[in-house]
Amino acid sequence: MEIVSALQSALSPAGAGAERLARLFWVLAAGSAVVWCAVFALTAWAVRARPADRPGRRENLLIVGGALVPTVVLAGLLLYALAMLPGLLARAPAGSLKVAVTGEMWWWRVRYELPDGAFELANELRLPVGEPVELELGSADVLHSFWVPALGGKVDMIPGRRTRLLLEPKKTGAYRGVCAEYCGTAHALMGFEVVVLEKEEFASWLAGQKKPAARPAGALAERGRRSFHARGCAACHVLRGEGGLAAIGPDLTHVGGRRTLGAGILANDASGFARWIARADKEKPDVLMPHFAMLPREELEALAAYLDGLR
Ligand code: CUA
Repeated sequence: MEIVSALQSALSPAGAGAERLARLFWVLAAGSAVVWCAVFALTAWAVRARPADRPGRRENLLIVGGALVPTVVLAGLLLYALAMLPGLLARAPAGSLKVAVTGEMWWWRVRYELPDGAFELANELRLPVGEPVELELGSADVLHSFWVPALGGKVDMIPGRRTRLLLEPKKTGAYRGVCAEYCGTAHALMGFEVVVLEKEEFASWLAGQKKPAARPAGALAERGRRSFHARGCAACHVLRGEGGLAAIGPDLTHVGGRRTLGAGILANDASGFARWIARADKEKPDVLMPHFAMLPREELEALAAYLDGLR
């Protein structure tokens, strides 16, 4: 698949919601320009007018330029924006794909709810082009905010509440998302990507994600698998088919196939894994995952090779 770009601009919309918001922006900008021009033109005119020659002119000017024009233009803009609200708050049609996204310190838990079961991944969503998708947003700890500028509006993730966002991507590509609410030390290190795929590509990706974790290919990866269990990684991470005690951290079943590590901060390859495992606390301050800098180099490489192979 061709990755067009990791666009992160609300003014280059690639989804229905973002298109509406971009249109709203330009209409508001044009309306503001009209008010600005009216006020300044009339001010210039007022300064030059001679009160002795034309009594009452300044008063008229104040009424027209200072009250009438702004009132008419701003009321028009308000009505335009309000008329847009129902579209932005609409629910996805019944039977649409549902994805639950939870903001956690400092990553994104992503859960696909499918008729035949659910599965989890992290820091990445893949969506089919041209189909409405309902996102259910929540938080596991503090306030976060889900925002993919190129696809839709920004919606807060509030502890104890579920909020909703309807996305309808219109162009394939990879679009960057961010946390848009200051949530703590690593707020700026909490990115993700939404990858919009053709429908057939999406279906085959979905089928792959439902499968259990791949068996290690080769002796190095097999050593890594044993180390994963011996070092207690499974106390926090689930590997479907391999076990795992609790889903405290990200589900790692297909972690090697994701686009980034650490919520958008490291390249997803063997060296990225080794770096993350050995120095997670340095890469992301206040991260909940402990660092494993004490591991011997060979063990770190084996673990990295194993996780990198989980495609
Ligand atoms: Cu999460 Cu800012």
